[in-house]
Amino acid sequence: MFNKSIISQVFMKRIVIFASGSGSNAENLITYFNSTQNINVVAVLTNNPHAKVLDRCKKLNVSALSFNKTSFYTTNHVENLVIALKPDLIVLAGFLWKFPDKLVILFQNKIINIHPALLPKYGGKGMYGMHVHQAVVANKESETGISIHYVNEHYDEGAIIFQAKCSVNIKDTPEDIAAKIHELEMQHFPKVVEQLLGSEVSN
Ligand code: GAR
Repeated sequence: MFNKSIISQVFMKRIVIFASGSGSNAENLITYFNSTQNINVVAVLTNNPHAKVLDRCKKLNVSALSFNKTSFYTTNHVENLVIALKPDLIVLAGFLWKFPDKLVILFQNKIINIHPALLPKYGGKGMYGMHVHQAVVANKESETGISIHYVNEHYDEGAIIFQAKCSVNIKDTPEDIAAKIHELEMQHFPKVVEQLLGSEVSN
């Protein structure tokens, strides 16, 4: 007779997160999946050795590692590490470098990204964080939101999995919008990830 924890370890779905900065989404995903049986964040990888996400991982007791441009784009260092981690899903949570084509091909339909706008609006190179919210204000948009999408070879162009909207008021500053987006991300991101992995569990 097997006990429940052995069974859940055998069927455990493994998430690897890539993040570049603060890591509030990474922390939210880690804490959310700490309280589930079948899904676990096994590692966080960052391109920034000073990123706050590293402190969060230390506090939460999650393995974390930083890497440089050479090990990401030129050698197989990061690629081999990710393969060894056997992820069921790779989650880009505020990861600002372009994901290498070789990893996209290797993990086809297993890499997702969260973007702080309603793609295809406000996507592409240079469109991240506050730059997005500043553009939304400059263009007098009446709504914005979040997009969770698969990662393909082009910035922010993979198939959209989920979007949620919020209104933009005439007096909203980019900081006000950032706060609304943060709330949407905290509310929806873990659940969307859980649904994606959950649909595979029942196959
Ligand atoms: C998030 O708002 C995420 O949507 C955005 O960076 C922030 C990271 O915050 N991502 C992009 O702009 C990607 N183009 P966090 O480090 O606190 O999770």
